[in-house]
Amino acid sequence: MSLKRNILDLRKRKIEVQKGGGDKAIEKQAAMGKLTARERILAILDENSFHEYDLFVEHLARDFDMEKKVLHGDGVITGTGTIYGSPICIYAQDFTVAGGSLGLMHARKITKIMDHALKMRMPLIGINDSGGARIQEGVNSLAGYGEIFFRNTLASGVIPQLSVILGPCAGGAVYSPALTDFVFVVENISKMFITGPGVIKSVLGEEISMEELGGARVHSEITGNAHFYAKSEIECFEQIKKLISLIPRNNTDKAPVLAPKEPLKKFKIDKIVPGNPRLPYDILNIIKSITDGSEFFEVMEMYAPNIVIGFGRMNGQTCGFVANQPKVLAGVLDCDSSDKAARFIRYCDAFNIPIITLEDMPGYLPGADQEHMGVIRHGAKILYAYSEATVPKITIIIRKAYGGGYIAMNSRHLRADFVFAWPTAEIAVMGPEGAANIVFRKEIEEAEDPEAMRKQKIEEYKEKFANPYVAAAKGYVDQVIEPLETRSMLLHALSVSANKSVSMPKKKHGIPPF
Ligand code: HXC
Repeated sequence: MSLKRNILDLRKRKIEVQKGGGDKAIEKQAAMGKLTARERILAILDENSFHEYDLFVEHLARDFDMEKKVLHGDGVITGTGTIYGSPICIYAQDFTVAGGSLGLMHARKITKIMDHALKMRMPLIGINDSGGARIQEGVNSLAGYGEIFFRNTLASGVIPQLSVILGPCAGGAVYSPALTDFVFVVENISKMFITGPGVIKSVLGEEISMEELGGARVHSEITGNAHFYAKSEIECFEQIKKLISLIPRNNTDKAPVLAPKEPLKKFKIDKIVPGNPRLPYDILNIIKSITDGSEFFEVMEMYAPNIVIGFGRMNGQTCGFVANQPKVLAGVLDCDSSDKAARFIRYCDAFNIPIITLEDMPGYLPGADQEHMGVIRHGAKILYAYSEATVPKITIIIRKAYGGGYIAMNSRHLRADFVFAWPTAEIAVMGPEGAANIVFRKEIEEAEDPEAMRKQKIEEYKEKFANPYVAAAKGYVDQVIEPLETRSMLLHALSVSANKSVSMPKKKHGIPPF
């Protein structure tokens, strides 16, 4: 064959394989409101940046008449590309080819791009849209998943791993996303569960829809498996790009730095916290009054909203924010908010992102419910994560810093590099009302006017303990600052910490309270 004919032949083959499961299957995909695997990759990556690998891989299955089946690309598209010029590895399961089911060669394509991402220290994006283990390939499919899980774990903390759920993700297949750093879901499209509605009906006799069992909202609000919720695939792709623009490509790199921007003037930091310490306010307004351009990219917005986590820039540098949210449950720490914050702190620490903690909370949530759910074990995660983190760690105590929460929210004692407190800070073992009732119980009971005595004792307690000056006198707080000084003190602290270097005891690894 002449070179020209060879080239024409190559082009023809490419066109054929790129059709995936064919027109009918693509129509079915579109009818479900879903883009195809190839459309998804092209929509996420910079224009003309996609380089596909292993386009001509074919499955090796020979049972159940599989030898007669042609599965283009074996149901998954893999390759590299760029997002805002930054290189990434990507794979997308193609539901139009055997339901995106995972057989041996499908898994090998995925593990090959994972190995490439780890070797080249590039972020990995995996798009899941699959019926799970390819039934006809038996244990080979299970082996394939195991190989993926192993690599997810190996790459954890070395390269960012993003999972995008754009269709079914059932059975053990859910564990690859669960092992990655960030999971993206889309309304009406994402479905994640270990056992589907059919099995539940036959085993438990209960009827439940896929959406109620493991839809996008369920994982964003209830289980905490998802980190980003979008209403459409396009919105989801914008979230992916935004995240990639904020994080470093690997654990030896720093996040991209942009030109500094002042916060918007409409966020007035000295007007947000109400005079009455019992009244709530929105901590997002404080964050936005500090960050460059008042921009904040919130993570897990719908889960455990009593704590807020996310990324914002300070003088162009990405920082991780962990902030109690006084407008939800007064910002208490509980099982879910501890899990949410602890994992985020570990992410920031693994990827060289300084952590800014904004504190206003009355402590851990009391009650049998929380105790029985394991608030001791879950609450310990946040202590562990802050103690272990060696990136710059800065705390601003805005108002309440009571009890275990004071210690947990990146206190000096867990090795905060800087602790600043507003004059409104109340740093104490517990709130004045509770404390006065316990410490002065006898005096209150025996007083002629117990209510007046109670009020007097609360005031006495407040004066003595519920302020920042006792902690400042001990050096636990580095400086009491005015609200308007917050951004400049944070910028100062960040610039002083730029070359922070601490060493921890040598060990194989710690044993966090998972
Ligand atoms: C082989 C599969 C498949 C699978 C779907 N297909 N899932 N082929 N193995 N697991 C094929 C179908 O036969 C069909 O092929 C095509 O994909 C599209 O599937 P449909 O059923 O027509 O699509 P839809 O109606 O949209 O339903 C999607 C679905 C359903 C809900 C995902 O296909 C389904 O329930 N699949 C099985 C899910 C499952 O139980 N998987 C195993 C989980 S256990 P044709 O040729 O007709 O187009 C598991 C263990 C992993 O994954 C353990 C790891 C540790």
